[in-house]
Amino acid sequence: MKATYLDPAVGQYLLAHTTMPDDVLDALALETREVTGDRAGMQISPDQGRLLTMLVQLSRARNVVEVGTFTGYSSICLARGLGPGGRLTCFDINEDWTAIARRYWEKAGIAERVDLRIGPAAERLRELPADQPVDLAFIDADKPNYPVYYEILMSRLASGGLILVDNTLWKGRVADPSVDEATRGIREFNDLVMADSRVTSLMLPIADGLTVIRKY
Ligand SMILES: C[S@@+](CC[C@H](N)C(=O)[O-])C[C@H]1O[C@@H](n2cnc3c(N)ncnc32)[C@H](O)[C@@H]1O
Repeated sequence: MKATYLDPAVGQYLLAHTTMPDDVLDALALETREVTGDRAGMQISPDQGRLLTMLVQLSRARNVVEVGTFTGYSSICLARGLGPGGRLTCFDINEDWTAIARRYWEKAGIAERVDLRIGPAAERLRELPADQPVDLAFIDADKPNYPVYYEILMSRLASGGLILVDNTLWKGRVADPSVDEATRGIREFNDLVMADSRVTSLMLPIADGLTVIRKY
């Protein structure tokens, strides 16, 4: 678990009282560690995955977008929240990692609901049709481009739609006055959201921080 902001014992208790991932997600997490080594840390945590599924279910989102798919963990969690006719469009730049995702979409039985677009997301996101409002988007790709992804997605987001953004606490460094470049990027993004009168937003201390943004 990646609960950076909880006492470890409380974190364990929390996990013991959260519905755990199934065998497909467990196998994906294992293979991701074997194949990508330390990069497996980029994968969202099981409790975040549960939250993503619930937010898609609760919002009854039908048109969902993910920016940053990696080997597919979060995409499976998002797709599992979709009702009949729901679609997930995934954006990533890496063919090798997303080849693993494609295999696990088959195993999870959600492949037919998912469309993968390979390439720089700042370009490919602009191809999303303006007349098909996005109900929910999850941003978890390269951090310096967060403001770009946010603006493109805001222009496509339905009224009442949600944007979820991962790593917004950046291991707590956002609150540290001695700031490096990556931290400055996340801080600037967080400030941009706070200053945006088009939305309300809530930062959750789950994993590395997840911001839930709702467009009016
Ligand atoms: C943190 S990982 C995503 C983890 C994923 N959400 C999960 O739970 O497994 C970030 C992903 O963003 C992708 N990425 C990085 N730069 C990108 C870009 N410019 N355009 C699209 N995807 C990019 C990487 O290839 C990587 O798969």
